[in-house]
Amino acid sequence: MKSDLKKRRKIVMETIGDDSVLIIPSAQHHKRTRDVDYPYRQDSDFYYLTGFVESDSLMMLIPGRKNGQFILFCKDKDPLKERWDGPIAGPIEAKKDFNADQAYAIDKIDELLPNLIKEKKLIYAPYDNDEKLFLRLKKWVQTSDRSLKTKNSKTKILNSSNILHEIRLIKSESEIRKMKKAAKIAVDAHRKTMSKVTTFKYEYELEAEIKYEFAKSNSTSSYIPIVGSGKNSCVLHYNSNNSVLNDGDLVLIDAGCETEFYASDITRTYPVNGRFTREQKEIYNIVLDAQKAAISQVRRGNKFSDPHDAAVITITQGLTKIGLLKGNISDLIEKKKYTRFFMHRTSHWIGMDVHDVGDYMIDNEWRSLENGMVLTIEPGIYIDDSEDIPEEYRQIGVRIEDMVLVNNGSPEVITYELEKEANEIEEIINNELN
Ligand code: GLY
Ligand code: MN
Ligand code: MN
Repeated sequence: MKSDLKKRRKIVMETIGDDSVLIIPSAQHHKRTRDVDYPYRQDSDFYYLTGFVESDSLMMLIPGRKNGQFILFCKDKDPLKERWDGPIAGPIEAKKDFNADQAYAIDKIDELLPNLIKEKKLIYAPYDNDEKLFLRLKKWVQTSDRSLKTKNSKTKILNSSNILHEIRLIKSESEIRKMKKAAKIAVDAHRKTMSKVTTFKYEYELEAEIKYEFAKSNSTSSYIPIVGSGKNSCVLHYNSNNSVLNDGDLVLIDAGCETEFYASDITRTYPVNGRFTREQKEIYNIVLDAQKAAISQVRRGNKFSDPHDAAVITITQGLTKIGLLKGNISDLIEKKKYTRFFMHRTSHWIGMDVHDVGDYMIDNEWRSLENGMVLTIEPGIYIDDSEDIPEEYRQIGVRIEDMVLVNNGSPEVITYELEKEANEIEEIINNELN
């Protein structure tokens, strides 16, 4: 881990060059209610380069100083605060444990930082969507310039995201190991939850079950689980999870966990009573075929859009075959008629963030897939309840989602162990040994 962090810092320093510095602050606390915060989670960029989890910290990389320096500002030790909130590393310990070249108390930042950026041409920082940080950066630059007695600042502030996120997009072996761990925990949690579906009455019981399974493996949800049964399965970001599970309905569970700062993201859809109806199975199998067709496109050198295009073709063909779309397949695709039923894209990057960083397009073209990229494949069909839809198909929502790693050979589905054939699902739910 430590050598990984060092390697990442080295790559960033080589990329930005000797005339630049990189500044990344830690994540901030966010209030949920009076005196109560949301659980704290370190900023992914900050953690990616430091491994340090404390709030009120800031890291700097200064490539132009003595072979490149890593400087950490962090909280000073404070016995009274530590009594309430637990141990604080403090600069001395943090410097040692996290291999910083220098570590200072965060309270000293306004005094020390301007000196560290003196005469630098570029400051890279994640100031997009963070007005406060931008103002602080400007103030540090002004203070630094004053000490130089120059009129026009030579220092420019640039967004660090482009540089850092391109690096984060390609996962190293140790990152892939962690992602496989997050995938495995979620696979087992989904299967366990699926096997118990007939014993529950409410969506929130399924949510509780899957979260319990995550927690037993010392992981947390990487996002609020979506547990949508019946018509709720058609609401893409449904997460109130408070409806009754009705006999004859499908339930869609989109849930993933986070372990060691890496996320998983899996969706399965299955019948509440353990048996698909004929129409549910028809729709399910179209989505499954689309997902398989999309997965087969996850190959080095293919475009990011290839899996989606494959899913669109399969879904359009399938919906035409059962009469929910009418017309010529190419026309229907060209006119995007499938978007009535399949209105989202098929993939996103996944890594430390569920919707991970990294551009999808380069110069207005879908980028090519490269080894070490991990993406989800998650096509779906969501049928509304309009008059023109035969009643048996109305309000069926199906999504199937897996995580796929791009590598030299065939697509590697890292959530492959979780069953998704309709008959396998029925077997798990109806197995008396559960
Ligand atoms: N769980 C969010 C997504 O599938 O993108
Ligand atoms: Mn997803
Ligand atoms: Mn998902």
